[in-house]
Amino acid sequence: MRFSTPFIFLICVSLAAGRLSHPVHPEVPVSQHVLSSSEAGHYRRPRIPYFTHLQDGGADARTGFVAFGDSYSAGIGTGLDGPEDECRRGVHAHTQLIAEDLSASQGGPNATAFQFLSCTGATTEEILSGGEMSQIDTFNASHPADFALLSIGGNDLGFFDVMNACIFRFYDFYSGTCESALEKSRASIESEEFESRVQILITEILDKVRWEKKPWFFVTMTGYARFFNEMTDGCDEMSFGVWWNGPKLKKRLRLQMNALVLAVNAKLRKTVDMVNSRFTRDKVLFVDYDEEFDGYRFCEASVTEPDYGRNDTWFFLVGGPDNARNDTRANHTLDVETLSPTSILVDPSSCLEPARRSGDWGELALCYMAMAKQRDPTLQPARGNIYARGNGMWYVPTYYGKTFHPRTLGHERVRDTIYEAWHELESR
Ligand SMILES: *[C@@H]1O[C@H](CO)[C@@H](O)[C@H](O)[C@H]1NC(C)=O
Ligand SMILES: *[C@@H]1O[C@H](CO)[C@@H](O)[C@H](O)[C@H]1NC(C)=O
Ligand SMILES: *[C@@H]1O[C@H](CO)[C@@H](O)[C@H](O)[C@H]1NC(C)=O
Ligand SMILES: *[C@@H]1O[C@H](CO)[C@@H](O)[C@H](O)[C@H]1NC(C)=O
Ligand SMILES: *[C@@H]1O[C@H](CO)[C@@H](O)[C@H](O)[C@H]1NC(C)=O
Repeated sequence: MRFSTPFIFLICVSLAAGRLSHPVHPEVPVSQHVLSSSEAGHYRRPRIPYFTHLQDGGADARTGFVAFGDSYSAGIGTGLDGPEDECRRGVHAHTQLIAEDLSASQGGPNATAFQFLSCTGATTEEILSGGEMSQIDTFNASHPADFALLSIGGNDLGFFDVMNACIFRFYDFYSGTCESALEKSRASIESEEFESRVQILITEILDKVRWEKKPWFFVTMTGYARFFNEMTDGCDEMSFGVWWNGPKLKKRLRLQMNALVLAVNAKLRKTVDMVNSRFTRDKVLFVDYDEEFDGYRFCEASVTEPDYGRNDTWFFLVGGPDNARNDTRANHTLDVETLSPTSILVDPSSCLEPARRSGDWGELALCYMAMAKQRDPTLQPARGNIYARGNGMWYVPTYYGKTFHPRTLGHERVRDTIYEAWHELESR
């Protein structure tokens, strides 16, 4: 028997409404088939909080969710499987992994309605309603949506400029000073504007799903993870710079970069608290997975960076492989695919404006490298790494854009941390 969407909607509302006052929900694991593939093995996958209609509605109760956000949510570079879309959505984004778990628990592929709207390069502007390519406007609230995932901030707050100025120096001499990029980024983290944009954005999501009619709906917002172990000595003389003689990964620099990430997380948490204070029950959950990356960052003890063979580093290096454990779908050919030197992405006279507009780190990196090379044709790629493979720099944008983003094992841990936070939320 098939129900129309509004009918299911009504069932869901009444089931949920009837249950909200009861603190105890029957236990239904979201997913069991994946348990064995979990490294830890001992924790169980918690079900989604407030998710009362999944087990009560029978086969016709279709569930769903929506993912909004930037490249951290799009999972750039993970489990590459042939050509990417423009948003560089990865096969092993934690958002995608959660969709697979939910679908499996509901009887197979695509059983869960998943609207994957996250897009590499997105700022709050691209999510907020009314903007060009607005993710909230694209979101179809008629499809089942029981919760939302959200990752936002890095592109609003100048992460790429910091990476460029302090670490990679794609535009060589013209990349600006690290200090001023850091200063600018710190100022925008502290600004009221970022905070209020995030508040509005969350409110728009809640309004679009008509939260007052869907009391179980909530937003799970993730932060970012510190990139470096900042205590080790070994990294002090190493560099990730793309050109010869790039900046060293001194402890002070690592500390400053890490502090930036912590400041963003603190700001996001504060913003989430502000939104929640306006509701009787929390509508937004902030999931901070930063500490879960301890031991899996760059510059860990006795690691010589850049270390392309270390699967226990959960961030991508420039052009580095993914670290999926057992991935039959992964095809790493993207890593060696080259762009034509005549591609608009690497035309030094015209690439900058479109690259800036897209906000895509990879497009920006390629363009800056092309511009640097035009200004100084004698520039040499850094030694001792694989940037120089083939003709040097004409790789697809993801080759650069995925750097400092989580690899598959990182996304698996983000997913698990979300499940743990949901579990905790429900047992509160
Ligand atoms: C699931 O959805 C995707 C995207 O719409 C589609 O390509 C795929 O064929 C679907 N799989 C099944 C088993 O329906
Ligand atoms: C939204 O989804 C509904 C239900 O599937 C569909 O009828 C409608 O055409 C969709 N709207 C848009 C704008 O795609
Ligand atoms: C890293 O992971 C890949 C993919 O699972 C595997 O092929 C490779 O052997 C691993 N490398 C090390 C050093 O364990
Ligand atoms: C790895 O993938 C193969 C092929 O899909 C599958 O048969 C095997 O069970 C997987 N192993 C693990 C440990 O997940
Ligand atoms: C992987 O890439 C190679 C080389 O481009 C291609 O021939 C092959 O079909 C790809 N495999 C899959 C599973 O997409």
